[in-house]
Amino acid sequence: MRATAKAHTNIALIKYWGKRNEELILPTNNSLSVTLDGFYTKTTVHFKEELEKDEFILNDETITDTAFDRVTNYLDLFRNYANQKGLFAEVNSVNQVPTAAGFASSASGFAALAAATAKALDLQLTKEELSRFTRKGSGSACRSVYGGFVEWEKGQAGDGSDSFAHQIAPEDHWDIRVAAAVLTAEEKDVSSRVGMKRTVDTSVFYDGWLDSVPADLAEIKVGIRERDFEKVGSIAEANCLKMHATTLGANPPFTYWQDSTMAVMQIVRNLRKQGISAYFTIDAGPNVKVLYLPKDKKYVVETLRNTAGVSDVIESKVGEGISYMRE
Ligand code: DP6
Repeated sequence: MRATAKAHTNIALIKYWGKRNEELILPTNNSLSVTLDGFYTKTTVHFKEELEKDEFILNDETITDTAFDRVTNYLDLFRNYANQKGLFAEVNSVNQVPTAAGFASSASGFAALAAATAKALDLQLTKEELSRFTRKGSGSACRSVYGGFVEWEKGQAGDGSDSFAHQIAPEDHWDIRVAAAVLTAEEKDVSSRVGMKRTVDTSVFYDGWLDSVPADLAEIKVGIRERDFEKVGSIAEANCLKMHATTLGANPPFTYWQDSTMAVMQIVRNLRKQGISAYFTIDAGPNVKVLYLPKDKKYVVETLRNTAGVSDVIESKVGEGISYMRE
């Protein structure tokens, strides 16, 4: 009745941006990500007969706010599936993700929680089933079940049965690097959940975004297969810009970018002018992730570190999928 799992976060090269079903977390478009070894969550789930409700400890702190509600509601999905209503758990999570810097920990968080819960209940889920469960915690989390390069199929079915992620290339397929530039920026005030809903509901650019995704996806898969860094980097960067453009066409309009976000984007463009292959991507927040090849590591990381507004640079290699710790 007890299990510990570790899951890494991921960064989307083709973004998930919009839901067709909010309750089941079903997306409007396929997305594609790379799992990052630099950021992870380790979670222990322990079901105990004597507990009268769940308990959630995050980084040694007992959580009682809406984050607790989200975890306990999520555990209900597993309790229902396993026919174990009334069985509660102690959940203990440690995040190796700088949450204070506005980094999304929900992907690694829900992937580790889903894996540990399923194992503690001895559910014997396939990876596909686990990815489907994980999706219901946070959409992007369903990609963190796998290492390497991962695609999340939006699916067609109303019940979400065909909406889950699968690996398109393993972690040892290609050694690319991702540096996360942590900015001295304020916390975001529009969450990804709220931002994507507002965009779907109101953005005059949303249809343009949706129309552009299939071609980006098809091309980037060729690039990954052929290990063509320029192709993969330039598609990822353009796809990110298109996603962020939708926020400007929303009502009310908003943006996740701050001055320092745009400063880093310009630094990356300057690196390219100097002949260094580097590309950026940005999620629903101000921080910028920079893609580069191992041979350029020193120069790229130093350049980012010396950029005004950058407080830290955290490097990642391509990471692995969910793993389980011995109890
Ligand atoms: C911009 O997965 O955090 O990072 O499904 O509502 O929990 P919910 O949203 P979430 O959204 C991630 C959006 C993104 C793009 C991506 O990761 O694909």
